[in-house]
Amino acid sequence: MRTLIIKGGQVIDPKNGLNKTADVLIEDGSIIGVDAGVNKNGAEIIDAKGKVVCPGFIDLHCHLREPGFEYKETIATGTLAAARGGFTTVCAMPNTDPVADSRAIVDFVLAKAADQGVVRVLPIGAVTKESKGTELAELGELADAQVVGFSDDGHPVRDANIMRQALLYASSIGLPVINHCEVKSISAGGHMNEGWVATRLGLKGIPNSAEAIMVARDIELAELTGGHVHIAHASTKGTIDMVRRAKESGINVTCEVTPHHLTITDEAIMGHGHDGDPYGQLKDDAYDPNAKVSPPLRARADVEAMVSALKEGVIDLIATDHAPHGTVDKQTTFADAANGISNLETALGSLMSLVHLKNIDLEGVIEKLTVAPARLLGRDDIGSLSPGTPADVTIIDTEAEWVVETSQFASKGKNTPLAGATMRGKAETTIYNGRIVT
Ligand code: DOR
Repeated sequence: MRTLIIKGGQVIDPKNGLNKTADVLIEDGSIIGVDAGVNKNGAEIIDAKGKVVCPGFIDLHCHLREPGFEYKETIATGTLAAARGGFTTVCAMPNTDPVADSRAIVDFVLAKAADQGVVRVLPIGAVTKESKGTELAELGELADAQVVGFSDDGHPVRDANIMRQALLYASSIGLPVINHCEVKSISAGGHMNEGWVATRLGLKGIPNSAEAIMVARDIELAELTGGHVHIAHASTKGTIDMVRRAKESGINVTCEVTPHHLTITDEAIMGHGHDGDPYGQLKDDAYDPNAKVSPPLRARADVEAMVSALKEGVIDLIATDHAPHGTVDKQTTFADAANGISNLETALGSLMSLVHLKNIDLEGVIEKLTVAPARLLGRDDIGSLSPGTPADVTIIDTEAEWVVETSQFASKGKNTPLAGATMRGKAETTIYNGRIVT
């Protein structure tokens, strides 16, 4: 029997209402209990004094790129990046090549994850065949293959009737449809958020309504079908207002927010350290393609609305939308660059900036990264430190100062607008199934 004791940390376990100094006892990969003064002969001890000890994070939305885009990421590198960021479970989006629209691809992802992954991988299946939006994928077959939801992420389900059918089928299976809400006929040709920054930079913008219109449609369809629609990466105040109203009326809608939509505005595209003066000099790193993401970084009012909605509980959970890309995808003009931010290794640091600014408390952040996604996944065995569950534990040093050096990332994706930024707060140790991964 292998025994591990994490001693003297501030244990925060929102599911069990714990926030106290205690020890965590782990035996043979499972949590045995959380208590004061735990001792066992021969146990391996981790001294967590001055640190926060919490359940391993769950990321409902990330891109591991395998199969097909191994130059951007693999299951091995993506799961190691996850562990470095404090995540012990990641849900893999299906926009691989081939798309995860059949049992064979899902089986491949699970087999690779079992062989080379260092944390748990839960696959998400496609809504439509090849995510082309024209014909439903075999949702029942995908569910049998153990997918945890359906999504054509990156490719919004544009046909309302297909979305309606998807919600009907998915609800009979008990799984959510996770939609990337974007009306492409509105966003087409746009490269960043529509607003004064886009005007200043001479880039065509994407208005908030490109997101809002599809959110409105999906809420209507969730009401019609009784299906569960989960809004991926909500980014606008309008989205939040609609989700709030829908929840108040009992419609089965949930939503997530990314760390970047909580912390970075579109002004970042004017370059690091720009003071937001529309007539001011642009910085040398303006037009950084690493700040190009879909949905785009939004205006200050939207970012503030995201933080308020997170505190209010309208936003159910935080997900990274980790979207690693290769240099060929990003080292080009802003207009030609791929959308996406490599997020797993900076997510906690970004969220800690909100905690340090006292915009949100740490317990709230941990809740949105642990029990909240577990609840959405319908899983009682992850997202807490409950006795008998797998020992997935993250130890956080909330004060550790570090500089984002992309060359040090485990992820192959070095694409982040945070390169060079100083962060305060880091996952120091990540334990998965009782094993110290990083
Ligand atoms: O920025 C994004 N990148 N947004 C998405 O929805 C897809 C993702 C990707 O796959 O690169």
